[in-house]
Amino acid sequence: MSNINLAIIYYSSTGTNYQMAKWAEAAAKESGAEVKLVKAEELAPQAAIESNPAWKKHYEETRDVPVAALDDLEWADAYIFSIPTRFGNLPAQMKQFLDTTGGLWFQGKLANKVVSGMSSASNSHGGQEQTILALYTTMMHWGAIIAAPGYTDQSAFASGGNPYGTSVTVDQEGNMVEDVQEAVKHQARRTIEVAGWVKAGMK
Ligand SMILES: Cc1cc2nc3c(=O)[nH]c(=O)nc-3n(C[C@H](O)[C@H](O)[C@H](O)COP(=O)(O)O)c2cc1C
Repeated sequence: MSNINLAIIYYSSTGTNYQMAKWAEAAAKESGAEVKLVKAEELAPQAAIESNPAWKKHYEETRDVPVAALDDLEWADAYIFSIPTRFGNLPAQMKQFLDTTGGLWFQGKLANKVVSGMSSASNSHGGQEQTILALYTTMMHWGAIIAAPGYTDQSAFASGGNPYGTSVTVDQEGNMVEDVQEAVKHQARRTIEVAGWVKAGMK
């Protein structure tokens, strides 16, 4: 049994990062962690969402997923973020959420949290790695401890080999090109394992 509280915080327009977050959730629960799966609040104008049928469908299907709150960050020992690339950077929806964390940061409440990031893009070299690194920049300012997957499991090789965090390419139909399910699950288990070491060390 794990004694770790894990917040999985994602943003997804068309479902890819939601699916990755769900795989992470399943593995984390199997590991015995207490898990909250929450989304960064949608900020795009309704007209933009309506203009893309896949976006509209996903938006409506995930209406019931709770929106990420600062309390989730305080509650959790570890965080997994999953975000699509936006020109090699974070989606504004996730950035907006991160930009509300100044108070927690000031109080030192984000220090020593164990974090890990995942991403997706339309092209195989479309900015997956850079997006995760951009996310990690904020995590370093928090004083969080990054638990990157590296090449700690064979699943990294089968999924495209991104050592910064699991990432996937999405084709024009919205299908994932690489099989990343096992890599996502390994990353979730590893995040919980590292969080367990950190938590035990802080007692
Ligand atoms: C504004 C915008 C910028 C994007 N920039 C890139 C990019 O630079 N490279 C790329 O390969 N894909 C890019 N994409 C594609 C998304 O990353 C892709 O749709 C996303 O990873 C799918 O994830 P989701 O299903 O979770 O929304 C962009 C999409 C949008 C809407």
